[in-house]
Amino acid sequence: MSTGLRKGLTSYGDAGFSLFLRKAFIKAAGYSDDALDRPIIGITDTASDYNPCHGNAPQLIEAVRRGVMLSGGLPMAFPTISIHESFSHPTSMYLRNLMAMDTEEMVRAQPMDAVVLIGGCDKTLPAQIMGAASAGIPAIVLPVGPMVVGHHRGEVLGACTDCRRLWGQHRAGKIDEAEIEVISGRLAPSVGTCMVMGTASTMACMIEGLGLSLPHSAAIPAPHAERLRCGEATGRVAVEMARRGGPAPKALLTPGSLRNAMVVLQAIGGSTNGLVHLAAIAGRVGLRVDLEEFDRVGREVPVLVDLKPSGDHYMEHLHHAGAVPRLLQELEPFLDLEAPTVMGGTLRDYMNLAEEVPGQTVIRPRSNPLKSTGGMAVLRGNLCPGGAVIKHAAATPALLQHEGRAVVFTSVEDMTNRIDDPSLDVAADDVLVLQNAGPKGAPGMPEAGYLPIPRKLAQAGVKDMVRISDARMSGTAFGTIVLHITPEAAVGGPLGLVRTGDRIRLDTANRRIDLLVDEAELERRAADFAPPRPAPKRGYAKLFHDTVLQADRGCDFDFLAGEDDPAE
Ligand code: FES
Repeated sequence: MSTGLRKGLTSYGDAGFSLFLRKAFIKAAGYSDDALDRPIIGITDTASDYNPCHGNAPQLIEAVRRGVMLSGGLPMAFPTISIHESFSHPTSMYLRNLMAMDTEEMVRAQPMDAVVLIGGCDKTLPAQIMGAASAGIPAIVLPVGPMVVGHHRGEVLGACTDCRRLWGQHRAGKIDEAEIEVISGRLAPSVGTCMVMGTASTMACMIEGLGLSLPHSAAIPAPHAERLRCGEATGRVAVEMARRGGPAPKALLTPGSLRNAMVVLQAIGGSTNGLVHLAAIAGRVGLRVDLEEFDRVGREVPVLVDLKPSGDHYMEHLHHAGAVPRLLQELEPFLDLEAPTVMGGTLRDYMNLAEEVPGQTVIRPRSNPLKSTGGMAVLRGNLCPGGAVIKHAAATPALLQHEGRAVVFTSVEDMTNRIDDPSLDVAADDVLVLQNAGPKGAPGMPEAGYLPIPRKLAQAGVKDMVRISDARMSGTAFGTIVLHITPEAAVGGPLGLVRTGDRIRLDTANRRIDLLVDEAELERRAADFAPPRPAPKRGYAKLFHDTVLQADRGCDFDFLAGEDDPAE
């Protein structure tokens, strides 16, 4: 296989001319023949004024460049799209596959022997790994790192668990307009990703557990000098990978490493989004995430990391406590430590780098877990033949076994319009149901699964209710919330058959959620099914609608899942 500048020549029908032309153009940027003869390391540039989470990407790119050049390689940064949670309409998930396609095709189209994937804000790292896995060249991940914490009136704050908690207090009339404005300036006090165990932190930890990034890379805060040294080291390793010709992501994404990622996801009390993204990543190398296996892992692996929203601390505290390598040490009995990593060794090497931090309480020992079982459970039942997920670590224990009357919202818009209506017929023991918020329904499976508590109940002191939907939920959110109900309502799933007044039973202990309506009535309702809105006719919206898979397949596009042609 050709390497360096000779890789993937532009088709002019004359390979010699193609290389000659390529050299002629790149020399316009001042490169010497010596530089152009080195292993080429691509570096994804996902800096964007719309993405403050990636605000340190320019400094990280410089650090990676330094590492690449110190090891004798040629760094070549190139842009891809960037996705920030709060600047993506209708939702970042809608754009994840577009970023995966962009990353895959730019990695494939441009000559590089290895690629450094710099990302972090929720959907970006999954998108980049999906793309790189399909492109098939050696790839190493460098997360941008978490923000440092904020402070307000003596309290430690962080995006975005505290965003939700304090906004809830504002809705309940306990925080006035002036104070909530002050708080908005203190929740995200630096560049970097949300510093609770939200989706960004979850993915960074899982990726380290998958051996796709360097040890400690998940938790070093974004503004720390150590993050830059991690960038330099990543550049060095990328050159070694280019020289060795591997490992490509496919060699690292094995059934064993995927199970390791599930173990980490459960032990950190991670975001439910981690499961969707893991399914999409696995799909790119022809593997499936087994939801029953994930549930089994959850029954035996305790939650050991004491971070919000399940616990009390933040990512910088996890870093100071020894981070993922220290966690791996606690998880040793559950892990396949022979799983390979980007460094050419095994996950055992990562674990052996663990530092013992006297007195730390962020990473609990197995003998004193935060929760005795994992953070998430997989539910089945007549409401979700394809499965659903509940993050019981962040739920109200008394609501995990619950039967109540359904109060149905037929779309996100319907919910927005009615949830705070004082005349809404709702009580604290009802079950709030949101339909048509899945992959096709919304579209893009928005993080709308955290239905707000109706204002009149919130003002009366209600803090949690059972809420169910085919949507996702931010990893920073909390509550007794059933998500990812599959198949979704918009494709005729049973969730769409629920009517206000029906009874619903949540039985988390037995991993079930059921609609207590007889079969004949459900068949009558199913006969009246109609899609919630007309299918889009053009552009990315049509591509998304026509090809997006359900949550159990990671919401990838059907034509992107599976193994692809090898890179040239
Ligand atoms: Fe970027 Fe939370 S908004 S990680």
